[in-house]
Amino acid sequence: MADTTNTIKHVASPLARQTLQDGSLTRPVAGVRPIRLLPWLQVVKIGGRAIMDRGAEAILPIVDELRQLLPEHRLLILTGAGVRARHLYSVGLDLGLPVGSLAPLAASEAGQNGHILASMLAPEGVSYVEHPTLASQLAIHLQAARAVVGSAFPPYHHHEFPGSRIPPHRADTGAFLLADALGAAGLTIVEDVDGVYTADPKGPDGDKAQLLREASAAELAKTEGPLPFDRALLDVMATARHIQQVQVVNGLVPGRLTAALRGEHVGSLIRTGARSA
Ligand SMILES: Nc1ncnc2c1ncn2[C@@H]1O[C@H](COP(=O)(O)OP(=O)(O)O)[C@@H](O)[C@H]1O
Ligand SMILES: [Mg+2]
Repeated sequence: MADTTNTIKHVASPLARQTLQDGSLTRPVAGVRPIRLLPWLQVVKIGGRAIMDRGAEAILPIVDELRQLLPEHRLLILTGAGVRARHLYSVGLDLGLPVGSLAPLAASEAGQNGHILASMLAPEGVSYVEHPTLASQLAIHLQAARAVVGSAFPPYHHHEFPGSRIPPHRADTGAFLLADALGAAGLTIVEDVDGVYTADPKGPDGDKAQLLREASAAELAKTEGPLPFDRALLDVMATARHIQQVQVVNGLVPGRLTAALRGEHVGSLIRTGARSA
């Protein structure tokens, strides 16, 4: 009888015999930097409140700018939620809804804003795609078109962390998680202010607020005042693998987004915890 033992393929796995809870055992295997899936991709997050809620006055110029960027960059455009999510939160909170019920409601507005933006860019071949498509078919969509639009909200939905009644992981966190997971070339957050200030520039002490041209996520995490993005963004920035900095720019000033994508410093640069290769 033939000895078949030599032809059997043994599947050796360095993780097979150990608990995944022990960092010292998993680190040699899992501690290496992941590959960049789409290293040429530029991710742009468009603010729901800052841009989309303003209607045509703010949307048409940004659509024009995005259109002109298409020959130069391949873009993943992600939209956030704005005033309609705030209304949903207030109605839902009044009714006592838990955070896991509120998160998908707010996420649906981010999707609506994405549909609006994608419709405006449809003549350029741009369409809105849902998260499962973003996760597995973004590359083929970006072969067919220079840009794709999606929702910036992360799909924590009913799994949203219950520490707060307002979903802590919102559009900025979602956009960053996607950009970092894809190993994108960059992430630009489009707001209605010139960047991150020492205080809300439109708040009661707005006249004293100073623009931070550069800051690290770790420094911002130590501050207590409001920021123009979700605080959870600072947490995910701390453990980023690829994206080393994010630029927050004013989308109401024509040309700022274009300059940012060309690598110019025209807003606030926020450094993450990702190390260079
Ligand atoms: N530290 C800060 N620096 C800059 N803007 C701030 C800051 N704190 C609060 N803001 C306010 O955040 C606003 C943007 O609101 P935000 O909820 O981030 O909008 P969006 O939904 O479009 O992301 C700005 O117009 C500004 O008034
Ligand atoms: Mg914002």
